[in-house]
Amino acid sequence: MMSKVMRPKVIFVLGAPGAGKGTQCSKIVSDFNYVHLSAGDLLREERTKPNSQYGKLIDTYLKEGKIVPVAISCGLLKNAMFESHKERFLIDGFPRNQDNVDGWTKDVADHVDLQCVLFFDCPLEECVNRCLKRGAEGSGRSDDNEESLRKRIETYLSQTSPIIQHYNMLKLVHTIDASKDPDKVYEDVKKVMSKYI
Ligand code: C5P
Ligand code: MG
Repeated sequence: MMSKVMRPKVIFVLGAPGAGKGTQCSKIVSDFNYVHLSAGDLLREERTKPNSQYGKLIDTYLKEGKIVPVAISCGLLKNAMFESHKERFLIDGFPRNQDNVDGWTKDVADHVDLQCVLFFDCPLEECVNRCLKRGAEGSGRSDDNEESLRKRIETYLSQTSPIIQHYNMLKLVHTIDASKDPDKVYEDVKKVMSKYI
């Protein structure tokens, strides 16, 4: 019973590249008691560590818009969860494919309560424009260019969409219209998040 009470609470945050996952998570964190962990950010951070054994692999995968093996992403997430000493997490950009789901299920799922999935739903053309704008404004990301974006969208459609559908069938998904401007989107996010405090 004890272990059940103390299980960390997890919300997955999914959506196409540029849908506003990170932007909305930052807003959530300022109002709600959740820690924001972005799989993409953790990978980018890992890549910059001089003695990381994964640096080169991560570099290649990011540029190609491919999903890195779950041992890496889930390992980074697990570490970050553990090191935070907190118990409510927004896990942004994960799980992105079936391999991610499988690794999570095997390693973590039984130790946490998955509360829901926030799905930021935005037309892909708008998503691409946002990422290109972000790149032009100096995001410094190696994948905010047309070539990488084409691949990221392809990966999203073929690998991530089915995962969102899977959680949708389990009635875990809150779909949020992410095409509006960030403050308007956040009004809807707040309504959903108020159920999970
Ligand atoms: O979520 P974000 O757009 O920051 O992810 C950037 C890249 O990080 C993805 O295109 C992918 O290459 C990698 N990534 C991954 N596995 C995840 C999340 C992100 O490989 N679960
Ligand atoms: Mg992000």
